[in-house]
Amino acid sequence: MPNGYDFVTVANRLPVDLTVADDGSVTSERAPGGLVTALEPIMQARHGAWVGWPGAADLELEPFDSDGIRLVPVPLSAGELEDYYEGFSNDTLWPLFHDVIAPPAFHREWWDAYRRVNKRFADAVAGVAAHGATVWVHDYQLQLVPGLLRELRPDLKIGYFHHIPFPPWEIFAQLPWRAAVIRGLLGADLLGFQRASDAANFLRNVRRLTDLKVSGALVTIPGEQERQVRASAFPISIDSKAFDELARSEAVQARAAEIRRDLGNPKTVLLGVDRLDYTKGIRHRIKAYGELVAEGRMPVGEAILVQVASPSREKVRAYMELREDVELAVGRINGEVGELGSPAIEYLHHTYPLEEMAALYVAADVMLVTSLRDGMNLVAKEYVAARVSDDGVLVLSEFTGAADELSGSVLVNPHDIEGLKDAMEFAAQLPQRDARRRMRRLRRRVLEDDVAKWSAAFLDTLDAMHGGPRG
Ligand code: G6P
Repeated sequence: MPNGYDFVTVANRLPVDLTVADDGSVTSERAPGGLVTALEPIMQARHGAWVGWPGAADLELEPFDSDGIRLVPVPLSAGELEDYYEGFSNDTLWPLFHDVIAPPAFHREWWDAYRRVNKRFADAVAGVAAHGATVWVHDYQLQLVPGLLRELRPDLKIGYFHHIPFPPWEIFAQLPWRAAVIRGLLGADLLGFQRASDAANFLRNVRRLTDLKVSGALVTIPGEQERQVRASAFPISIDSKAFDELARSEAVQARAAEIRRDLGNPKTVLLGVDRLDYTKGIRHRIKAYGELVAEGRMPVGEAILVQVASPSREKVRAYMELREDVELAVGRINGEVGELGSPAIEYLHHTYPLEEMAALYVAADVMLVTSLRDGMNLVAKEYVAARVSDDGVLVLSEFTGAADELSGSVLVNPHDIEGLKDAMEFAAQLPQRDARRRMRRLRRRVLEDDVAKWSAAFLDTLDAMHGGPRG
């Protein structure tokens, strides 16, 4: 690497699943994901590197190549994982940025670790980026990186994308280190958010916490070299065509039919697919469904709810408690209203490969995305992309980024249990013709606005801020 890399992606995680064998040897497998799919062609064409944590504590790895991309591991100790990842990222910022659904904890030692780890990421990027390279930083775990990186390398073009909601001032103001976070973000040239309201919240926070001039989407940073930072919405998407093709494949279609058979060929299969996270509204959804069954509106045998909850952040207390609550609720409902061989809810605490997910989407008549707050929610888009038969109904929370885009879904307020029940029943009983009309509209949107278009829009805007493309 004599001159460094022209395009550097920075995210908390590297796009690989690493396995450490008993003898300490490490093997890596590319982890599938929207971001990797979107960035892979750009990274391969532009001499790209990806800087991130390799996914296990105390793993010191040399940089390595994988499918034409340089992977640069940033090590984290067990203590740093506790304080930076589980602590500040996922027990302070995550709840604070999701409407304080769970109470955020504020600890000075967590903040110290967050600063220290963000600096380590910035140093790693500074060490591999070519002169004038484009650096794209991702998500709330790394909000200080743009500022730290600009100090080290003012020659770089720095973009940042925030994948989760950005809170209004009334909530953000609680953060003891609020001004430092805003300063960190303002190190970027372009800040991307999921929704226009997230960008507006950010800009309002800038106004409240700094004396900087904010005009429309632009913040002016004075200095020897005055510069401008743009904050705008770039709603993220999925590799829609790949999903559509996967769903059309014989193997996935056959597996979908098998799933329906295994479920006892009910009239209606309802599906929830989430990381087991309190922002996803799983408790509310299960409660509403249990009541529908108990009231005879969704009789067992005729309908079934399949809830896939993939394990997530299992060392954070709020996640442990959520798991207990959800599993207790499912057990109680199945015990009370289920019948031998016919549960009301089929609950799966697993992570599945993409093919199985596609088969579940193909098998489901009604998809339930009922988050209490969600940056975008890509499950909603995956369901739509997988509905190659143009039918199926998406029940979607108003509090997701996806709700701004996906008209054709049945919108719900997940806090309104009666409204949620009515929406589920409405979706299950919607005449085919109406369901198809809605789904066709949704599919046009999701197939048109895919993740390649999203990354191109972001990177073109970043280039334009520097007076055109380079490299
Ligand atoms: C959300 C965040 C991502 C994060 C993912 C999985 O989608 O926006 O930044 O990577 O959740 O969470 P984890 O803590 O397992 O990385």
